[in-house]
Amino acid sequence: MATKRFTTALLLLSNLAAAPAFAADAQSGQRIANRWCASCHLISPEQNGANTEAPSFASVATRYNSKELALFLTSPYPRMPNMTLSQPEIADLVAYIRTLGPKRDEPEPLEKDEKPPEPRRG
Ligand code: HEC
Repeated sequence: MATKRFTTALLLLSNLAAAPAFAADAQSGQRIANRWCASCHLISPEQNGANTEAPSFASVATRYNSKELALFLTSPYPRMPNMTLSQPEIADLVAYIRTLGPKRDEPEPLEKDEKPPEPRRG
């Protein structure tokens, strides 16, 4: 049912979006990006050459905040392969992408019924 899927996505999203400010690892995110995203996206200012249809991560970082990025990477997207990233991988990727852009959404206040995230170990 559509409503149920939407609720699930929201739940996933609130977990994910809360994570980056606390425990996500941008360096790990960069490694994941190198492996899974660099064939199409320019993932860092040093990289030369990628598929020109895919926007650079620097450009992505100026247009999306952490929540939007986490949501984007949680749902399948028609023009990208379905990468089935784990939640920690997504949090790390989002943290990495955010290092490339303006820091306009660094620690966001929690929304009304959002719980603070568990610290991630390891
Ligand atoms: C096979 C090529 C390919 C791979 C691999 C790929 N992408 Fe993309 N991605 C695209 C294309 C093409 C677009 C632009 C689609 C469009 O504009 O409709 C895009 C769009 C995006 C956008 C939205 C940008 C915007 O301006 O709306 C994000 C965020 C993104 N990709 C992140 C990633 C991440 C993170 C990875 C690695 C985990 C990844 N992509 C791997 C091809 C790819």
